[in-house]
Amino acid sequence: MKVLNLYACLGGNRLLWDDCEVTAVELDPELARLYQERFPNDKVIVGDAHKYLLDHYKEFDFIWSSPPCPTHSRMRKTNTGDGERKSKACYPDMKLYEEIIFLDNFFKGKYCVENVVPYYEPLVPAQKRGRHMYWTNFPLPNDLGERKLPNFINSKISLLSEFHNYDFMILSKIEGFSVTSHKKGTRIDKIARNLVDYEAGKTIFDTARGIIEQKTVQTSLFGHL
Ligand SMILES: C[S@@+](CC[C@H](N)C(=O)[O-])C[C@H]1O[C@@H](n2cnc3c(N)ncnc32)[C@H](O)[C@@H]1O
Repeated sequence: MKVLNLYACLGGNRLLWDDCEVTAVELDPELARLYQERFPNDKVIVGDAHKYLLDHYKEFDFIWSSPPCPTHSRMRKTNTGDGERKSKACYPDMKLYEEIIFLDNFFKGKYCVENVVPYYEPLVPAQKRGRHMYWTNFPLPNDLGERKLPNFINSKISLLSEFHNYDFMILSKIEGFSVTSHKKGTRIDKIARNLVDYEAGKTIFDTARGIIEQKTVQTSLFGHL
């Protein structure tokens, strides 16, 4: 099965996928390099996932997309305001909905677009599981087998490393990443919290694969359905 993993980060969602050929797209070169180290058999593209989807969607059986969530998150809305520690108001990034509508209308395979629970009613109906929203063209099980992240907001990097089975402290040795907000660079705990729980990633992947394989068997038995 040919799989496209968009906005791949460090491949939290991808950890337990097996028997598949994965192409991963990540914009940040360092994250892409670390993803490649973690998944040496995947093809890794450093580039814009949104454009890659449009140019290559026909080549895949299953597409997973995790567009950046900050402009949709409830946290962002809570933290928007005029105070010194507040963020400036901004538009929600509509690439999320561009991809959902595009995949739903033009992609012949199965897809899953994942994001946070937004601060507004989703513009396209979604399935909510845990602290995530999923847009798919197949029904998701009610229970994704998702594990509960202990003490989500204050989780320490060591706890997140254990949870995601990845040593995030590797990033502290790379320019552009930092352990605390006192130093310049993307906060490592922020990256670690972005990863999808690997059990949820596996349940969704296996559900899609089950449907794809069933359709392939039916097509070979009864011709084009
Ligand atoms: C929410 S994280 C994805 C988490 C991933 N699904 C996982 O489970 O590990 C989003 C990632 O998208 C990357 N990113 C942001 N804009 C991008 C773009 N235009 N093209 C590709 N990757 C992008 C970020 O660097 C970040 O690593």
